[in-house]
Amino acid sequence: MNDQIQREKDVHGANWSRVHDGYFVDPAVAAPLVGKIREIADRARPDMIVDLGGGNGALLSHLRASGIEPGVSLVDLDASSTQLDAARAAGFACLAGSVESFARSELGIGEGRALFVMRSVLHYFGQDGLRPVLRHLRAQVKPGEFFVHQTASFVRQQDADCLNGLYQMMRTPKWYPTTDSLRESLRGEGWGVLEAFPALPLQLKSDDLMQRYNLAEADIRQIHDRWSRDATVPETVFKVTEDDGFSAFLHYWIYVCVPVVS
Ligand SMILES: C[S@@+](CC[C@H](N)C(=O)[O-])C[C@H]1O[C@@H](n2cnc3c(N)ncnc32)[C@H](O)[C@@H]1O
Repeated sequence: MNDQIQREKDVHGANWSRVHDGYFVDPAVAAPLVGKIREIADRARPDMIVDLGGGNGALLSHLRASGIEPGVSLVDLDASSTQLDAARAAGFACLAGSVESFARSELGIGEGRALFVMRSVLHYFGQDGLRPVLRHLRAQVKPGEFFVHQTASFVRQQDADCLNGLYQMMRTPKWYPTTDSLRESLRGEGWGVLEAFPALPLQLKSDDLMQRYNLAEADIRQIHDRWSRDATVPETVFKVTEDDGFSAFLHYWIYVCVPVVS
C-alpha cells in the first residue's frame, strides 16, 4: 500500500460509498461511463473486464446491475486491501496490485480478451508518473482490446492550475491534466483516442476534503483566500461558501482508447 493510499484508508471499504455525497455509488453519475463500457463490450466481446484501481467495486457493481453478460468475469485490481475486502464481499474477483506495475499474466486470462476500465485513478500518479503508467498499461493490452477511462481533466489550463494548486496546498501529489495534454500523453504512449466526452463533475466540499486529507482549519482558510482572489477561475471550478469554506469541482471526461499497433 503506497503512502497516498495509506493516507486515505479511512475513506476506503464501505466508507467509500459515502465519500463526496455518494458520487461513486450514484447510478446516474455512473450512467455515461457504464453505457460506454457496455457499448464497447458488445463490440469487443471480452472474456474479462478489469477495473484498474476499482476501489470497493462501485463501478463493477453498476456494470453488473446494468446486466453485463454473465460469462464475462469482473475483476477489481487495487492497491488498497480495505477496498478489495469490500469488493470481494460484493462478489467480485480481486487482484491486489498496482496499476503501474501489474502484469497481464497475473489476471489469469490466458489467451482470452480483456477490456480495461478505470475511473478516477490516473491523477494518483502525479505529473511525472502519468506517462510511465500509460506506457505500462499500453504494454499490458493486446491489439483489438480497449481501455475506457473516466479521468478528471480540464479544458482550460487555468482551471487545471487551480485544482493542482489546491491539491498541492493539501499536501498531496495528485495532479490533473488538461484534456488536450492528456490526449497528447495518451497518443505519445501508443494509445489512439477514439472518443472523449464529459461526464458529471464531482463537487469537493471543503469539509469533506478536511476529513479525507486530515486538514486543519488553517489549511482551508489558506486555500479559500488563495483561490477566492483568482478572477480567472469560474464558479464551476471553484467557489467560496458562506461559512468561509469552499467547493471545488473535478471535471471528468470519458476517454475511449485503443492500442496503436505500429
Ligand atoms: C478515487 S478512488 C476510485 C475508486 C473506483 N475506481 C471508483 O470509481 O469508485 C481511487 C482508487 O484507486 C486506488 N489506487 C490508487 N493508486 C493506485 C495504484 N497505484 N495501484 C492500484 N490502485 C490504486 C485506490 O486504492 C482507490 O481505490
